[in-house]
This record gives sequence, structure tokens and C-alpha cells, in this order.
Amino acid sequence: MSKKLYIETVGCQMNMLDSELVVADLRRQGYELVDAPGPADLVLFNTCSVRAHAEEKIYSALGRLKNAKKQSPNKIIGVIGCMAQNHQQAVFKRAPYVDLVVGPGQLHQIPQLVEKIGAGAGQQLEVSLDRKGGARGDVERSFESYDPLRDEAMRPSRYQAFVRIMIGCDKFCTYCIVPKVRGPEQSRSPQQIISEVRKLADEGCREITLLGQTVNSYKYAEGERTTRLSDLMLQLHDVSGIDRIKFVTSFPKDMTQDLLEAVRDLPKCSHYLHVPAQSGSNEQLKRMKRLYTVEEYREMHQRIKATIPDSAVTSDFIVGFCGETEEDFAKTMALVEECRFKNSYIFKYSPREGTKADELWTDDVPDEVKRRRNNELLAVQNRISYEDNQPFIGRQVTILVEGLSDHARKHEEHSHGDDEPHAPHGDGVDHMHGQVQLVGRTNCDRIVVFNGNPRQIGQMLPVTVYDANSFTLFGEAVTSHVGPEVYTLGVGS
Ligand code: SAH
Ligand code: SF4
Ligand code: F3S
Repeated sequence: MSKKLYIETVGCQMNMLDSELVVADLRRQGYELVDAPGPADLVLFNTCSVRAHAEEKIYSALGRLKNAKKQSPNKIIGVIGCMAQNHQQAVFKRAPYVDLVVGPGQLHQIPQLVEKIGAGAGQQLEVSLDRKGGARGDVERSFESYDPLRDEAMRPSRYQAFVRIMIGCDKFCTYCIVPKVRGPEQSRSPQQIISEVRKLADEGCREITLLGQTVNSYKYAEGERTTRLSDLMLQLHDVSGIDRIKFVTSFPKDMTQDLLEAVRDLPKCSHYLHVPAQSGSNEQLKRMKRLYTVEEYREMHQRIKATIPDSAVTSDFIVGFCGETEEDFAKTMALVEECRFKNSYIFKYSPREGTKADELWTDDVPDEVKRRRNNELLAVQNRISYEDNQPFIGRQVTILVEGLSDHARKHEEHSHGDDEPHAPHGDGVDHMHGQVQLVGRTNCDRIVVFNGNPRQIGQMLPVTVYDANSFTLFGEAVTSHVGPEVYTLGVGS
């Protein structure tokens, strides 16, 4: 009988990718994936440390497993990823029934460690070196994980995959734990990346998202030759079968003109750029050690818009960072108004032990002030997103169909129930015509929901938009479309 694995993933796309690799590895060892911790022989939490909340959620989930572990002592419980690297031994102190703590650089060791635990070796801890714990080369190696063994079933969809092009981060923004838990910045070799993408294309993958904490800082030197992100994009563009290429997250200071021109000129490149500003105030940006001023951010933003007029730019903001005044916050509001981001992810500052900010300054903005600023900024952003989605009504856009919409998926899961809430745009599945509610994205990463046929999943499809809110465009498939594959360059955005 096969052993059962349950995995829960929080955090960024890096973690989603890591979970895919861990699952692929464990499946090879005979594990079968289950969707609840109850029946699982091995329960893994792939964790995030970026904010306290992300860590607390994991400790709560672990707390809920305490009794299950008492009843089935052979159940192996593992904490892996960023919080494992951050807390190390302390995870065992807080949750003594955890068997396994594995940092992001040791994920490839999981099968072997699990075997050891099964054989009675007791708790296992494997983490990378501290950033000052050795020569840079040794520290770098300790954060490198394995060459990906992929697992299609763990991807966002069969047709989409994340591809890591960089490990770690060297920017050391003062609020951020990532350089500590993910280690030094290292770019992977273009050959490695290209062969991984070729393999993905052979498996039917149509869209790849290149991942790096500061993905546009990608730089790989080999002898005389240096490959930058724009060069890599050019090479990846030649991989047949791949229709769309995205990359996240970009660092404002490294948004070079050659990269913007590559995005403009390479038809497979999504016109979508995630370039977090974090704040609109120079005092705050300096404290955050973001290495740019708001004027420089604006200049970069204008350059993006001048080079790729139909591009969608998105941002992250931290509200209530140490010393943030109402005046600072007003400047952030003004930047959002001016840049009109497609959307923004807004976070309340959460002090992280081991960061410069936590060492130097007190977390002096009260939580209710953080909450209010969060809400105010979100309201402005949502209004802008709504306004900027309206001009799409009546337009034809080309989307990559990703799969069933959330609503249709829920409907599938509860297909025998009769009390599902009704979505504003249909109930998900039209049994009379075999139509389902599908979801896809435009070239500029706007979400489009439409009624279609499941066999359209994975295709590039023209859709006419008839309605829009802040987050979603609602469309109808263009009926004149006949062939199995249409890739309409220059249509829509
Ligand atoms: N490498 C990316 C993002 C890393 S973390 C970048 O440089 O933009 C994702 C987002 O979490 C950050 O952009 C930031 O907005 C937020 N974040 C990071 N540390 C945080 C903290 N201590 N408190 C609140 N938000 C934080
Ligand atoms: Fe964190 Fe800054 Fe690195 Fe992004 S660039 S991961 S915010 S230190
Ligand atoms: Fe979190 Fe680690 Fe990503 S700290 S944001 S999961 S790199």
C-alpha cells in the first residue's frame, strides 16, 4: 500500500514551486498525495517567515495536529521552507511533536530524512549555514537545492509552470527576512534554465513564470560572456510550445531599458511587470534601504509606460513601517494615484527578528493606524483598478485559458449539493450545453472569466469583454474562432 502525503503551502511563488519539487520527489518514493492531514503518513508544512502572521498560522495548524500525533505516533510531521530556516531548533521547542525541520536549501534531503525518522532515528534538523557562518561560496552552496524534478499535478495548471532563475537576495531591505532565510543571491545558469523550460514545453506547458526575489537583477557570468534577463528572455523565446513568458518580482533600480525593450519586442512576453514601490516617501524608502528615491521610481514608471504603453504595472506597499507619519502615508497615496497600478498588494509592517529595522527602530505605528492606512490605500487602489478595467468593456482580448473558474471548481467539488451560492455571472456550469465557467489571463495579466468548453483550457483564445469590476473582466468567447490554436499578436492586451 502506498504511503500518504499531505502538504500545505503558504508564502510566495518560490514556495509553491518548492512544494511541487518536494511532492515530485516523494511521489517517486511511492507517496500518494491526499488532501487532508488526517489520513496522511507524512504531513509537511512549507512555510513563510515574511510576516509574523504567516508563522503564527503554521504554529496554529501544528497545534491542531498535536492530538493526531498522540493517537498515531508514526505519523511524521515536518516543517520545511523559510520558517524552518528562520526558527530552526526553536520549532521543536514550540512544537515538540514535530519530527522534521528542513530549510529551503535542504529540501532534496526530505525523502532520506523521512526514512531515517521512520527507522527510529528521532527528530531531524537540516538547515543552511547562517549568512555569516562561512565563506560566501559555502553559504551559497548550502542554500542551493536540487535540480527540479517536476510534478505536473502540483502546478497552478497543466499549462503553467514556475521556473526559478535566481536563488536568494542580497538587497537587505531593512524590514525583510528573505535574505536571511533564502540566502545569498545566485543566478542559475542559462543552460539549466533553458533545458528545464524545454522539458516543460514538451510536457505541454504553455506559460512560464520566471522567479527571483529581484528577478530583473538576473546576471550569469561565464568566461567573457554575461547573460542578463533580457538575453535569457531572447533565448527562452525560441522554445517552441511556450506561448507566454512572465517574470516576477522586479526591483525598481534594476529595470533597465534593454529589458523593457525585450518585453516590448518579444511577442511571447507578457506586458505585465510587478515592481514593488513599498512607499511613496523618501524618508521611508531610505529607512527601508530600498536604494531608490520616489523620483527615481516615478522616472522608472514613466519609462515603462513610454516603452510599453499597454503594460500593466503592479506594486507592493508596506504601511505603518517604523516612523511612518501621516505625511509619509499621504505621499504613498499620491504615488498610487499617479502610477495607477493594475493592482497593489498592501501589507501592514510586521517586525521580523534578525532584520536591521527590528534592531534599530521600534514598531511605533499603532495597529489601528496601520489598519486604517491599509484600508485607505486599498480603497484608492480598488477604485483605480475598477476605473482602468472599464475601457476593456467591448474590447477583444487574447487570453491564455488557465482552467475552471473558482466558482466552477467549487461547483465540481460539490456537484451533488443544491445550495451553492450563485455567482453574479452565472452558476459556473451549464449542463445543457457542456459549458463551464473558465478563467484565463490577458497578456497584461488581467483575469477574464467566461463560459466555454473545458477543451479550451490551455489554449490562446480571443474573448470579447462585456463587463468588468476591480479584479475581473467578464467575457464571451469569440465564436468565429475555429482552429485549436489561435495566437493573435497585437490584439487586445
Ligand atoms: N522580493 C520581492 C518581495 C519579497 S516579500 C521584492 O523585493 O519586492 C513580498 C512583499 O512582502 C514585499 O514586497 C513587501 O511589501 C512585503 N514585506 C516584506 N517584509 C515585510 C514585513 N516585515 N512586514 C510587512 N510586509 C513585508
Ligand atoms: Fe526582501 Fe528587499 Fe530582497 Fe525583496 S529585495 S526579498 S523586499 S530584501
Ligand atoms: Fe515567504 Fe520565503 Fe517567500 S519568507 S515570501 S516564502 S521566500
